[in-house]
Amino acid sequence: MPRKKITVVGAGHVGANTALWLAQKELGDVVIIDIVEGVSQGKGLDLTEAAPIEGFDSRITGTNDYKDTANSDVVIITAGIPRKPGMSRSDLINTNLGIVKTVVESIVKYSPNAHLIVVTNPLDVMVYAAWKYSGLKPNKVMGMSGALDGARMRAFIALELGVSVEDVHTIVIGGHADEMVPLKRYSTVSGIPISQLMPKDKLDAIMKRTRGAGGEIVGLLKTGSAFYAPSAASAEMCEAIIKDKKRVIPCAAYCTGQYGVKDMFIGVPAKLGAGGVEEIFEVSLETEEKAAFDNSVQAVKKLIDDLKI
Ligand code: NAI
Ligand code: 2OP
Repeated sequence: MPRKKITVVGAGHVGANTALWLAQKELGDVVIIDIVEGVSQGKGLDLTEAAPIEGFDSRITGTNDYKDTANSDVVIITAGIPRKPGMSRSDLINTNLGIVKTVVESIVKYSPNAHLIVVTNPLDVMVYAAWKYSGLKPNKVMGMSGALDGARMRAFIALELGVSVEDVHTIVIGGHADEMVPLKRYSTVSGIPISQLMPKDKLDAIMKRTRGAGGEIVGLLKTGSAFYAPSAASAEMCEAIIKDKKRVIPCAAYCTGQYGVKDMFIGVPAKLGAGGVEEIFEVSLETEEKAAFDNSVQAVKKLIDDLKI
């Protein structure tokens, strides 16, 4: 079977680390493309030289020419500016919209059958824009959000309880912004509801920390935003598609009425496989959870309406 081809657009912090995780998992050959000359080539070469040490045979190349991305199976879009302290994800909107437009139009020209995983912020708006600019079916376009937000919540729960991260499961839905909705009722440790393992105030603090987790890292780094966990989460979604794993990973998926949302991408639990977003699972929400979710949807909708794309 021929190797899969994965393109990572943007050779910055998230893009380069995504390429590393993809190669380490040997998901396919990886092309990194960036607008800046030399950066993608340099990072591609550096990763190639790491291959003998780590023992991966994925070929990694860097380029500035979209022809080299032709016939990609999956394209992960990380091109764009990250936020600095004091900025919200939505402050990035105008700059990143222009970048996403150029990138997506060039990508679909050479890879009309690719799945697109959008990472660029503000996530839920950028994935909507990417879908519009691509002309692809909505199941082939998705945004990386809940994979990261849920991983952060899992990490915080595991730290608090002193248990393995592998046994902690969570669902975070809604937009990838401070209004996101961590669902504590669906958080478990090996099936044990989290509410039985931790007092309410501790759990509430973890939910609050999860909502602000991106900002917590921006505050520490000062010059940009998180990249290790975001790149790992992007590679996880790519793996689910490449290996047709049917993983259930919350991500920004196109809704056609699920959770009362239509014609929008928003974070929901989705089954990811060779067909991209193959199904959206609707979990029951209590009144308070639904209100928080609707609030998050409205925040994203307002940004999309203002852009008039
Ligand atoms: P970065 O600044 O390290 O890298 C961005 C790269 O994009 C740079 O190498 C830049 O040259 C490149 N670029 C800019 N315009 C381009 C174009 N037209 N074509 C190709 N490449 C272009 O930023 P970082 O930290 O990698 O973040 C990238 C984006 O991902 C930001 O918008 C950030 O907010 C977002 N992000 C989203 C996350 C999520 O959960 N969805 C998590 C982490 C970051
Ligand atoms: C994060 O949550 C910046 O969206 C990015 O870290």
